[in-house]
Amino acid sequence: MKIKKILIDKKENKYYWKEGDFHSSLGKIGEKDIISGNIKSHLGKEFICFNASFADNVLNMGKGPAIMLPKDIGFIISYSGINEKSRIVEAGAGSGVLTAFLSNISHDVYSYEKNESNYNLARKNLDELGIKTNLKNKDITEGIDEKDIDLIMLDLPNPWEVLKHAEKSLKSGGFLISYLPAITQVQKLVDSKGDNFFFDKAIELIEREWYVEGQKVRPKSRMIGHTGFLVIFRKI
Ligand SMILES: C[S@@+](CC[C@H](N)C(=O)[O-])C[C@H]1O[C@@H](n2cnc3c(N)ncnc32)[C@H](O)[C@@H]1O
Repeated sequence: MKIKKILIDKKENKYYWKEGDFHSSLGKIGEKDIISGNIKSHLGKEFICFNASFADNVLNMGKGPAIMLPKDIGFIISYSGINEKSRIVEAGAGSGVLTAFLSNISHDVYSYEKNESNYNLARKNLDELGIKTNLKNKDITEGIDEKDIDLIMLDLPNPWEVLKHAEKSLKSGGFLISYLPAITQVQKLVDSKGDNFFFDKAIELIEREWYVEGQKVRPKSRMIGHTGFLVIFRKI
């Protein structure tokens, strides 16, 4: 079931509301009151309330394997220029977070996941949000069924084993983007590139949030530092 509303109390704690009466240590708010926007608990505690977004729902789906984060997903989407007409192949689906964001842009997403329990998790997560995707319980190193692909996005440990299939599936100029946690994997992938891909770049994105609270206007001490490198190839 989807998260419908976000409730925020005076201490800025966030609560995700799906349906029914809302209960917390700050009291109860009836379902009808939440829907009508009268967000005060029976103990007189006030909340801010607004509608949940697509990203609120996707980023709060059930988690299995590590998910990709918006900082990396945003780059992939903008840099590859995908749109509603793009044909996209992705592996592995994992928890389905990247799959969901890609499927929010194009209805032509083919997602491979070799592990059965991760496949079931991604299937459940995507179904709960009503996201239509061609999800396959299949090892992508055994082959890619689709042709004329604009973007192949790999979040798996051995992308070099996918290159021979990717070069037959991608359009000229199509993007192959790999998300890899270790620089040794980046090196091995680039060394395996062959003659049919152009190595565009390898990047790392770091997200640092700031306090903006009165005189306290400075970066937070903790940040989202290393998640993974993004390696971008173009099909020649
Ligand atoms: C880190 S998770 C992906 C997380 C996903 N990008 C997300 O944002 O939710 C990596 C997934 O790749 C799957 N996987 C690894 N090798 C694969 C392969 N050869 N074919 C398909 N899936 C594979 C694993 O089972 C795992 O579920």
